[in-house]
Amino acid sequence: MRELQAPKGVSEYFPPRSQYFELVRETLIDSARTAGYSLMELPVFEDTELFKRGVGESTDVVSKEMYTFEDRGGRSLTLRPEGTAGVMRSVIENNLDKLSLPIKVWYSGAFFRAERPQAGRYRQFYQVGIEAIGLNDPEIDFEVIAVADRAFKKLGLKSYRLEITSLGDAKSRASHRKDLVSYISKLKLDDATLERAALNPLRLFDDKRPDIREAMASAPLLLDYLSPESKENFARVQELLNSAAIKFTINPLMVRGLDYYTGTTFEFISDKLGAQSGIGGGGRYDGLMAELGGNDLSGIGFGLGVDRVLLACEAEGIFDASINKSDLDLFVIALSSDEKPFVSNLVNQLRNQGIACDMAYGDRALKGAMKSADKSGARFSAVIGADEIKSGLVALKDMKSGESKEVRISTLAEEFKSN
Ligand code: HAM
Repeated sequence: MRELQAPKGVSEYFPPRSQYFELVRETLIDSARTAGYSLMELPVFEDTELFKRGVGESTDVVSKEMYTFEDRGGRSLTLRPEGTAGVMRSVIENNLDKLSLPIKVWYSGAFFRAERPQAGRYRQFYQVGIEAIGLNDPEIDFEVIAVADRAFKKLGLKSYRLEITSLGDAKSRASHRKDLVSYISKLKLDDATLERAALNPLRLFDDKRPDIREAMASAPLLLDYLSPESKENFARVQELLNSAAIKFTINPLMVRGLDYYTGTTFEFISDKLGAQSGIGGGGRYDGLMAELGGNDLSGIGFGLGVDRVLLACEAEGIFDASINKSDLDLFVIALSSDEKPFVSNLVNQLRNQGIACDMAYGDRALKGAMKSADKSGARFSAVIGADEIKSGLVALKDMKSGESKEVRISTLAEEFKSN
């Protein structure tokens, strides 16, 4: 029989590494919660049209990387390559934009892009994202960037950079586009590149081919075309970042992989990862909601790559010392099979009272069972034999110090709660 394997290029996490994945994801989510964002749980597949209209047909994501399929009713569906378009669709469909603004939501889950797999680049990957919809203030731009930065700092990351730019408002982009299109029209380009440029001329700044890079080196930059309002807005964002001691550099050449961006745009880059060093990115997307048939509300958000943040943490050695490997309070061992039912019952009762505990299963000798206790990472262990059951007392062993203290079995739960 053929050996079954995971599909090519997907990321997956299993113990013991999965606990670090969980910790990273929870820390990112926690930062969003701390700033007043609420959960939005969305479908993993959506109408293909949503991404075509929302993310843009000039992007690699839409033109080359979508997992699109027909369902049994002949509808074209696509596994979500990103989260923002789905959030907009849901906000419009459920009339959330008619409630008080801003709408602040977070989401977390799997995303799908048929990219060429390599270290840190997967076909199924995980993001934690936030979106703040209905405000066009520099303060909210700052908030969104600060939520990401706070999460990275909380994890203990040090070797990362923040790059920002502004893609301006519609007025700024229109005047820049005119000059950029005229600049591009003088270049000798192949048909496919011309087609992309016609959809979104900014894409050419992101072209990796050396001849195009060279040709684009003196192209007009959007940052030089910002309207007075956009300029002022961008300056305020920078002031706020400075006063919060969040370091950044301005990268006028930044091109995000999705077409909906306007105004403040940013990326976080780890210095410890190879080619796939973007650990998160986002920006403003004024116009997206109207484009998808909703009110003309502005918005800003980010997507943080959980897989890559985990890789960055590992590369910085963050998990080596500081983190307890297990959530378990207690590991209980029955001295012989006679005490097994008692122990099983005890463990069940302790769990009912919220104590995280596990027991040695199977017919292992005490030595083997102690090894399981070690491996479980539990903070305490207890061995229960006939004597313990009779006396109602058990020696609770601190697995780190090796010290034991005698406690009453009937009050074990209280013992842990007071600790
Ligand atoms: P994005 O820059 O396409 O933005 O993705 C955000 C993050 O997801 C990236 O910085 C990276 O860490 C991670 N990521 C993307 N593709 C992969 C992959 N193939 N393998 C592993 N990690 C990956 C967005 O998706 C926007 N929706 C973010 C946003 C929200 N902008 C505004 N609101």
